[in-house]
Amino acid sequence: MSKYFNYKNIEDLREEIANLGLSIRLETEIKALREPVKIGNFVAGNALGIHPMEGCDGTLNGKPDELTYRRWIRFGQGGCKMIWGEATAVIEEGRANSRQLLINDANAKNLEDILTKTRQAHREELGRDDDLVIGLQLTHSGRFSYKKPFIAFHHPILDKTTLVDKKNKTPIPNDYPVVSDDYLEKLEDTYVEAAKLSYNIGFDFIDIKQCHTYLLSELLAAKTRKGKYGGSFENRTRFVRNIIGKIKNELGDKLMLATRINVYDGLPYQKDPETNLGVPRPYPVPYPYAFGINEMDPLQVDLTEPMMLVKLLRDLGVKMVNISMGSPYFNPHIIRPFERPTIDGYESPEHPLIGVDRHFRATGEIQQAFPDLVIVGTGYTWLRHYLLYAAEANVRDKKVSIAAVGRGAIAYPDYAKDGLTLSKLAPDKVCLTVGFCTALMRAQNNKLGQFPTGCVPRDKVYVPIYGESKRSRRD
Ligand SMILES: Cc1cc2nc3c(=O)[nH]c(=O)nc-3n(C[C@H](O)[C@H](O)[C@H](O)COP(=O)(O)O)c2cc1C
Repeated sequence: MSKYFNYKNIEDLREEIANLGLSIRLETEIKALREPVKIGNFVAGNALGIHPMEGCDGTLNGKPDELTYRRWIRFGQGGCKMIWGEATAVIEEGRANSRQLLINDANAKNLEDILTKTRQAHREELGRDDDLVIGLQLTHSGRFSYKKPFIAFHHPILDKTTLVDKKNKTPIPNDYPVVSDDYLEKLEDTYVEAAKLSYNIGFDFIDIKQCHTYLLSELLAAKTRKGKYGGSFENRTRFVRNIIGKIKNELGDKLMLATRINVYDGLPYQKDPETNLGVPRPYPVPYPYAFGINEMDPLQVDLTEPMMLVKLLRDLGVKMVNISMGSPYFNPHIIRPFERPTIDGYESPEHPLIGVDRHFRATGEIQQAFPDLVIVGTGYTWLRHYLLYAAEANVRDKKVSIAAVGRGAIAYPDYAKDGLTLSKLAPDKVCLTVGFCTALMRAQNNKLGQFPTGCVPRDKVYVPIYGESKRSRRD
């Protein structure tokens, strides 16, 4: 059995799924995806979406720049009726890179402008935009903030690979301070300010980002942290509960709340120098350093706490939950099943279909436990043009409300238009999951401290940018 995508037809893919004992289903008659989806007081005109995909291409002060506009407008024209706007920092020190978007008073007009142009592009292409739902993802990058790490707790494995001094490659020392309760309390208010700005700008919803091991995601796993934001489930959810409470106090129900959560953080992986395959870094058992895992066997997902979290968020009035898992920094095969690793990265230690299935299963279980909540699913892109058929099957089977793609959307921004009009996707437009976008994200050796990212194989704008980033690595 090959780990690579070399299916001649859908039957080959179905056979591989069966041979691996997985439960991914494919439906070729596109019906359910065309149905509108009610999200709070909004209606999305179809069940296809675009995940937050940052392009690391803002200005140094966090405003959208030329390539940011280009990406958003292409997404607007693409036919998806739910666009989940990219990671936008609520505070300068919480940016993941020097070109990440930043929401503040100074940038609000620019964010309003990009939103307006995205809607306008959608209207011009699709005839209407009253059924297009667009939100913004609010974030603090925590451990992965680009200037210095903000850690919720000391992690015995990740502290060794998180650098406090990138130039000298100095890892986090044992006496490095964790973010204080005081810092977190003040940060809650910063989130509320960002939420108010988002509402005034005109976003339909905000995402209080709790995924991919950034600060709020790390807080959910802060079992070893002392004080009121650590330890018990109640304490670990205090930060997000407080933010929601404060937003409701200020805005009532005027702003729709959504969140992208990790339902499984997974273990940190590294490359085995002999096989190039990813292998878990040595880890202790029990393993109290991650969310959504079985502490006695951290290779296994345990949805007990993620289910409690979804219930709590739903009860607090969150209308849409986007399910994700893993970390782009230490277990990329979990967050986004891939064909080829990025330079320096490891080869997938599992068949990527197993990764796709892990996403679909966890999402399906959550959707089935909360049938009235809008659940957005991840993990489709590796399936290339067959992703449309998996999306149709999952929506039909009520294992997800909206199927969305990430890498697939920067390769093929109008995948929904093709999918819904032709009932198929073009094999020569889909994402090949070969890692150029991640390589660009990691390329920081230029004047601005960050190269923009996009789809090198499918979008010729990024070919010279990639060339330049390669040259910068040699310099
Ligand atoms: C270049 C790039 C940028 C991304 N930006 C974000 C982001 O801003 N916020 C987020 O939650 N996830 C982000 N992701 C993760 C994707 O949204 C998505 O979860 C992941 O790629 C898996 O979905 P896929 O298989 O459809 O690509 C990014 C991924 C890539 C490769």
